[in-house]
Amino acid sequence: MISDKMAELVKNGSAIRAMFEEGKIMAEKYGKENIYDFSLGNPSVVPPENVKNAIFDIIKNEPEKVVHGYMNNCGYEDVRGKVAESVNKKYETNFTENNIIMTVGAAGALNIVLKTIINPDDEVVLFAPYFGEYNNYLSNYDAVPVVVNPDFERFSINFDDFENKITNKTKAVIINNPNNPTGVVYSEKDIERLSDILEDKQKKFGTSIYLISDEPYRELVFGGNYVPYLTKYYKNTFVGYSYSKTLSLPGERIGYLVVPSEIDDYEQIFGGLGVANRILGYVNAPSLFQKVIAECLECTSDLRVYEENKNILFDALTEYGYECVEPKGTFYMFPKCFTADDKAFCEKAKEFRLIIVPGSTFACPGYFRISYCVDKKIIMNSLESFKLLAESFK
Ligand SMILES: Cc1ncc(COP(=O)(O)O)c(C=O)c1O
Repeated sequence: MISDKMAELVKNGSAIRAMFEEGKIMAEKYGKENIYDFSLGNPSVVPPENVKNAIFDIIKNEPEKVVHGYMNNCGYEDVRGKVAESVNKKYETNFTENNIIMTVGAAGALNIVLKTIINPDDEVVLFAPYFGEYNNYLSNYDAVPVVVNPDFERFSINFDDFENKITNKTKAVIINNPNNPTGVVYSEKDIERLSDILEDKQKKFGTSIYLISDEPYRELVFGGNYVPYLTKYYKNTFVGYSYSKTLSLPGERIGYLVVPSEIDDYEQIFGGLGVANRILGYVNAPSLFQKVIAECLECTSDLRVYEENKNILFDALTEYGYECVEPKGTFYMFPKCFTADDKAFCEKAKEFRLIIVPGSTFACPGYFRISYCVDKKIIMNSLESFKLLAESFK
């Protein structure tokens, strides 16, 4: 008999995965090329050649017992040192290996932070629309999600609501920049305002409020947009990073967490994070891929493809009458449905062979998410379907 909590999780399932599975069934029925599956954030471009070369090189030249062995639960010291150096060079920070923990992707990074800082019933603030898995990660540690209403104008931060939602029970705030599902990049001004509010609230309540910046899309920005490095604005910040999207390695489960020395209770927290990596069953981030990314720190996949896809889709959809905040990064966009019922809208879309995800999955009903990390041909072929879908509501 499974636990009550798991029964609930299974019942609620993942709408994104469900749409993806449905897409596969439809592809079998109608042919893969006739289904426009925009459900999953699985990168469509291959990893750069350096990744393959690094794998072969490490396997051939490094001792097997090291490459495949256990190491410190926080990761190989030399890899953490190289990651710190690379972050310092890019963002003018001052980290060392003692500020980096190698993690099982961004999801692993989020889970070890929550495991380390959360007591049951602590509140964690989320900004709608947000990555739906956050609810599940919070439930792992019996944290209470407190959701800030969307800022529908820009899909940035609804600051008035944010201020009202912080209480003496707020332990953490999760921000995702650039954002899944909207593709919005929070500006430096937004980050400064967010930091000021958090500083004030810490003083008011005499508590530590940790900002957790979830950044698997950091390099995935368009047209020279800039993603501020949050540890420079607010000292109680963790940064979670992942190679899933920018190096197209989502199945390899590799990322890292930055823990600044200035963070409140640094020593205790850093120790706790290593224990969390171990006792959550990760033990450590995948050993081979720690070494691989250390050789590929300055590389990304060819991310230009996503901007091209965004331009084609955004121009076409706005022409067909869809309302949408233009994405500045990621490979997602989040247009408004032509009906308040986003689930019904996504069901209707299937009649036009479009697989899209309802906004309610991201705590923002009335909208839908398109993952445009697909071949350009699929984007081009799907345009007529988006047009017909829009027309069907007129
Ligand atoms: C906002 C956000 N956070 C975290 C993750 C998890 O990333 P990873 O696969 O690196 O664990 C994803 C994956 O899609 C994501 O979109």
